[in-house]
Amino acid sequence: MEKMIIHGGVPLSGRVVLSGSKNAALPIMMASLLTDEPVRIRNAPRLRDVRTAIDLLSRLGVEAGWAGEHELVLRAARIESHEAPYDLVKTMRASFCVLGPLLARSGRARVSTPGGCAIGARPVNLHIAGIRALGARVQLRGGYVEAHADSLTGARIWLDNPSVGATENIMMAAVLARGRTQIENAAREPEVQDLARLLNGMGARIRGAGTHVIEIEGVARLHGVEHEIIPDRIEAGSMMVAAAITGGDVEIANAPAEHLDAVIVKLREAGVEISSNGNPGLRVRRRGELRPVELRTLPYPGFPTDLQAQMMALLTQAAGTSVITETIFENRFMHAPELIRMGGDILMKGPTAVVRGPTRLSGAPVMATDLRASMSLILAGLAAENTTELSRVYHLDRGYEALDAKLSSLGARIERVKDGR
Ligand code: EPZ
Repeated sequence: MEKMIIHGGVPLSGRVVLSGSKNAALPIMMASLLTDEPVRIRNAPRLRDVRTAIDLLSRLGVEAGWAGEHELVLRAARIESHEAPYDLVKTMRASFCVLGPLLARSGRARVSTPGGCAIGARPVNLHIAGIRALGARVQLRGGYVEAHADSLTGARIWLDNPSVGATENIMMAAVLARGRTQIENAAREPEVQDLARLLNGMGARIRGAGTHVIEIEGVARLHGVEHEIIPDRIEAGSMMVAAAITGGDVEIANAPAEHLDAVIVKLREAGVEISSNGNPGLRVRRRGELRPVELRTLPYPGFPTDLQAQMMALLTQAAGTSVITETIFENRFMHAPELIRMGGDILMKGPTAVVRGPTRLSGAPVMATDLRASMSLILAGLAAENTTELSRVYHLDRGYEALDAKLSSLGARIERVKDGR
């Protein structure tokens, strides 16, 4: 195991380049199952979750590997297995999105249900309802979803809530179905839009990605494609908070500002100066006092749940009382007790956390519980006096590529060491 050691108190400055989006790369990798031709993916992030996806796809018979520092080539010439085993789906929920493409490509799939995780129960009922609507016969047996479909037929599908994964799974099943599919109340996230762009590049006929209604005209087959992944908006938001919490001045070279409206508005409300100097990218600095804000996480384009933990760390430094409401996941405040140990003044009541500040943060040994909670503790460590030790760094490595190197290049005093435990 490894841990991160952070010596806080250094205002970050300089320029950082974001990696490709984890949450775009994962479903896009699964989409390679839909054709027997090569799918070439550029700007793919070197993450633990991408390695897990390569492992899973290889077990299904996909030739999957790196063709460059950030370039993947995937080729599902033939499907050799239709099973996504529990051990892989448990470690990475996004694995469940092989269900749709496996069904569309070869009419059957046996995929473990992901089960809950640290942040919530995370059911897959909307995924299952969607592929049933397309004509698949689905049963749940021994913790696995077993699905069969001689053929899939387009349907009108309503999602009770705009689930990102369900939208992606259903979209990847529908592209080879007969006729038209409408996904209503679809997720609008940029990662869903990037997947639709990839699928259309493969010959699919998808309209409306990024809106509440996605229309898909089924086609007979899909072909290979080359695609570049969008920059990671959650890494962008995390770096923006890093600049803000340390009172720094950072240029984020390839920040996808068009995917960050809610984040930019909220950070400006908190007193952070954000400017785009004409070319792509954002300049983020904070010189004065941070102000408290009210924050509700919402489906895109609302404030992203994946940046809630990072904002909580920042708001411990705001002069006043902030209120954070988490509306997407039922248990996504695990970072709060660790922030309290570092000096945060946070009161939790159900889906709401009240954060009073500013409080002095002091470094402490803390433990990561999930990916974004880990980032929250790193951010607090950057602002804290003396030293913070974050254990279970593997959580961080799931979703942030070379984070310690990126932060060090901005002046942070951070190092990764072996954890004796
Ligand atoms: C995606 O997860 C992201 N992961 C998550 O990012 C992100 O937090 C989440 O979307 C919300 O934006 C990837 O894209 C790989 P959902 P997903 O289905 O698709 C409920 C990170 O840190 N729901 O939109 O699993 C569910 O319980 C990760 O990068 C059902 O009830 O999220 C949750 O409350 C964490 N039934 C809500 O919908 C279903 O069938 C949103 O979940 C599916 C979901």
